[in-house]
Amino acid sequence: MVKSSMLKKVLVTGGAGFIGSHLVDLLVEEGYQVKTLDSFHTQVHKEKPTYLNPACEYIEGDIRDRKLLSSLVADVEGIFHLASRVGVGQSMYQIEEYVDENVRGTAVLLDILANEKHNIKKLVVASSMSIYGEGAYNCDACGVVYPVEREVSDLRQGMWEMKCPHCKAVVHPIPTPENKPLCPTSIYAQTKRDQEEMCLLIGKTYGIPTVALRFFNVFGSRQALSNPYTGVVAIFSSRIINGNPPIIFEDGKQTRDFIHVKDIAKACFLSYEKEEADYQVFNLGRGKPVSIGEISRLLQKILKKEVGEEITGRFRKGDIRHCIADIAKLKKFLSFEPRYSLEEGMEELLYWMQNEQPEDNILKALQELEGRRLVE
Ligand code: UD1
Repeated sequence: MVKSSMLKKVLVTGGAGFIGSHLVDLLVEEGYQVKTLDSFHTQVHKEKPTYLNPACEYIEGDIRDRKLLSSLVADVEGIFHLASRVGVGQSMYQIEEYVDENVRGTAVLLDILANEKHNIKKLVVASSMSIYGEGAYNCDACGVVYPVEREVSDLRQGMWEMKCPHCKAVVHPIPTPENKPLCPTSIYAQTKRDQEEMCLLIGKTYGIPTVALRFFNVFGSRQALSNPYTGVVAIFSSRIINGNPPIIFEDGKQTRDFIHVKDIAKACFLSYEKEEADYQVFNLGRGKPVSIGEISRLLQKILKKEVGEEITGRFRKGDIRHCIADIAKLKKFLSFEPRYSLEEGMEELLYWMQNEQPEDNILKALQELEGRRLVE
């Protein structure tokens, strides 16, 4: 059931960011009054973004500023909680900062909901596919299996594919359902798991309908192209635009589930409006595997720049091999299927990138990771 005339005043935390800003635009379009709390972190925004929506009220501040957050919560009926530090590699050495902002930040929000007077009727929290660790696999002999992590000794020998935890045969990736056991392999992922579970727990306890959305690999316009700690599509784009070949880890045959940011915004919106979503978790992906090598080739094609690629045979600690969303639940409860194909999504990204001058900072970030032995 859709309850569209209600709950029209909302707060989006992290609403100036890549995903949050698309959500803000959609909410404004749908007639919502939107406020945003965003820290405008300099790693993400070199300067104030030009895409900010004039109909939204932006408040610059930290989610951990209780007084500020509390005054914002008191004035709305629903919350989209997207504010987070998002660098997976970086989270492995800025541990205190990531845990503090992501976990304690969420704790401050929930503490307000538990202890202060408010009118919140719905909470949507941005979770992540990273909380699964590896995706689900099928073993020809043992059936569905959930291998945990690859051995570093195997990776050093270029044995990239996952093995069955029982018989050690090589296994094949299958769509990952929401009930796959969680197994975060980074501090970032751990904090996302905490955010998700804390929100659902407090939501249930106090009867505040809560939904957790596990975003898969999101791409599209407004991605922080110069931030070398962000996703692979942004990193490869800034490499290619600057005339440099993408640096590919492993053999480039690892796969991910890339979903366009506007599909993510739409699913966030639907999960807010639909009661059927309450107290549930959903995968938000397209359900289609794409290899990292294919991403490099496709970007070069749409950017019309042939720069080749560097397949390094090196690996990032904690990287997973394959994870693709099972989106049956998304289709069933939200009656939603992503609209953008990979090519259409890339065209949208390209259109936006034409006016961008990204800096290629990947080598600097790579050195940082090498120095800490997070890349071998
Ligand atoms: C991780 C998180 C995910 C988060 C995303 C973007 C996990 C399991 N998932 O996803 O929640 O949304 O980061 O922050 O931690 N790659 C290269 N060269 C590069 C960069 C990446 O080959 O220059 C490869 C990686 O080794 C990996 C794939 O591309 O195999 C995807 O990497 P990335 O975009 O960082 O995302 P994930 O690790 O899938």
